Amino acid sequence: MAFPHLKEMATRYAKAAVVADKEGDYETAIKNYKKAVEMLNKIIKLYPDSPVVPIYRDMVKNYLKRIKQLEEKGSEPIAFAKRGNGDSDSDLDDMLLTKKPSIRFEDIADLEHAKKAIREAIIYPIKRPDLFPLGWPRGILLFGPPGCGKTMLAAAVANEVDAIYFEVDASNIMSKWLGEAEKKVARLFKVAREKNREGKPVIIFIDELDALLGVYSSEVGGEVRVRNQFLKEMDGLLDKDSKHHIYVIGATNKPWKLDDAFVRRFNKRIYIPLPNKEARLQLFRLYTKSLKLSDDVDLDKLAELTEGYSGSDIRDVAVEVQNRVIREFFEKMGGEGEPRPITMNDFIEVLKVRRPSVDVLIIKRLEDWAKRFGAL
Ligand SMILES: Nc1ncnc2c1ncn2[C@@H]1O[C@H](COP(=O)(O)OP(=O)(O)OP(=O)(O)O)[C@@H](O)[C@H]1O
Ligand SMILES: [Mg+2]
Repeated sequence: MAFPHLKEMATRYAKAAVVADKEGDYETAIKNYKKAVEMLNKIIKLYPDSPVVPIYRDMVKNYLKRIKQLEEKGSEPIAFAKRGNGDSDSDLDDMLLTKKPSIRFEDIADLEHAKKAIREAIIYPIKRPDLFPLGWPRGILLFGPPGCGKTMLAAAVANEVDAIYFEVDASNIMSKWLGEAEKKVARLFKVAREKNREGKPVIIFIDELDALLGVYSSEVGGEVRVRNQFLKEMDGLLDKDSKHHIYVIGATNKPWKLDDAFVRRFNKRIYIPLPNKEARLQLFRLYTKSLKLSDDVDLDKLAELTEGYSGSDIRDVAVEVQNRVIREFFEKMGGEGEPRPITMNDFIEVLKVRRPSVDVLIIKRLEDWAKRFGAL
């Protein structure tokens, strides 16, 4: 199992454990803490050289301690143990990507309006701050249906400018760090300011921004304080005429979960919609570029047939069509010779079973939100 997947599972269990713990459902909490420990141990074993291993070891220790507390006492109110080296910046290591993602704007099909808005908001001010005497925006919100390029765009920005790039998954902040989350947020921004003072622009990318607001409103785990800390840090960045280059890009596919205070601080809000026909054509071109297609494959027609499909749906279709031909090749030819080219019929058959993944009601809701709050 791959690292990101394990990490995601560990996070999911940890999150469930904390929720159950807070609600007093200790049996579920123990079960999920144990699962989280199991996943983390797996990561430690499989990737012993990863820089996050010491952090994970620490977490395992804390979760085991909590399990023991719960098993012994059963009903003690939740009191998360402090982590040993809570003040070291090494805790930020797994968010600071020293190796930047390799994706570039050219690799992203369409979304010209978004690329343009991002260039104007981030790239131009970094390249020529002298041309922006009135300042520039610091907070950018990318919102839209899943699988349409939000995460890709943020990664590409980091590549277009020589910036220090932090990638923070908000759901991770909330679960991984347990009660320490707001301190981490403060430290994240502190490190960002320090790095920026050394002369480099800093981009903080917060994926799943809505998770920062937390699903639970109880004070116990500090989620409310996390939210307030974050708002405070954002205010620090937006402060009048400062000339720093620290940018926060937030992404969400549930923007209605953000309250007004949050929305206001992201003064550029860019809708990343489902691809239109032209964009779908570009996506089909992009994802069939390295495939062997028969002459009868009509990409234009495919673009027409895939209304409602997201970018990631279209990539999945391309992958599945290729798999289909390869499967057949091994079954019929035993892997000898060359597979046949992909035909239009292969696409049609795959499209029959691979439906769009995004619900139309969600799209409607996003469009309404874009109308009210979108701001380029
Ligand atoms: N415009 C696009 N151009 C090229 N590939 C795309 C595009 N949109 C989506 N994809 C494909 O879909 C995958 C998912 O895209 P991405 O992770 O950027 O979506 P997202 O909008 O962040 O979704 P989520 O809201 O679920 O996080 C990408 O890795 C890429 O393969
Ligand atoms: Mg994403």
